Amino acid sequence: MAFSQDELKQQVALAAIHYVKSGIIGVGTGSTANYFIEELAKVKNKIDGAVASSEATAQRLKDHGIEVFDLNAIDGMDIYVDGADEITEHMHMLKGGGGALTREKIVAANAKDFICICDATKYVPVLGKFPLPVEVLPMARGYVARELVKLGGQPKLRDFTTDNGNIILDVHGLNIPDPIEMEGKINQIVGVVTNGLFAARPANILLLATHEGVKTITK
Ligand code: A5P
Repeated sequence: MAFSQDELKQQVALAAIHYVKSGIIGVGTGSTANYFIEELAKVKNKIDGAVASSEATAQRLKDHGIEVFDLNAIDGMDIYVDGADEITEHMHMLKGGGGALTREKIVAANAKDFICICDATKYVPVLGKFPLPVEVLPMARGYVARELVKLGGQPKLRDFTTDNGNIILDVHGLNIPDPIEMEGKINQIVGVVTNGLFAARPANILLLATHEGVKTITK
């Protein structure tokens, strides 16, 4: 049976509800995460509330009647649920197409399990076809761009300001055979806030929507 990409996103968002037990849920950003918020709203009586990875997600959660907690007011959470722009069999992800990568990484760091919800188009053998987003302090733009060129990429300034008041450089043409190493190298460049490689802390559970149903992959 053939489904549209939106139908696949909806199915995988629903599958993630199985992991929602109680307490506070970390919620990601993007179109797949938005479907998850719709499903979460239907079981909101089971939970205390959520922590949001962006202003957009916080607003959407509130619109659905879900209480949004400040991350500093809570003591961790069991699960963080988010989409990805690319993910490999090693559960390494490339994220930040929506520009929320830094807050996503911070909220995810506070969760025991990262549950990645994707349609099968995001499952790739190697990361880097999707341009890698890097959040940068505005004054460091030129310097960071030159350093990224030295790493083999072509950085392009996105017409966008992050929730943290910074800029995004989308790095095209990077070869990323070792995402953990590349994540560390880019984060070492002075002026980088963080980059969209989520490899040092990969996903624990991948729910992958395919035309044959939602597959569960764990590591
Ligand atoms: C947001 O900054 C991103 O990391 C998203 O998680 C990612 O872009 C996936 O978004 P979609 O679910 O819209 O594809």
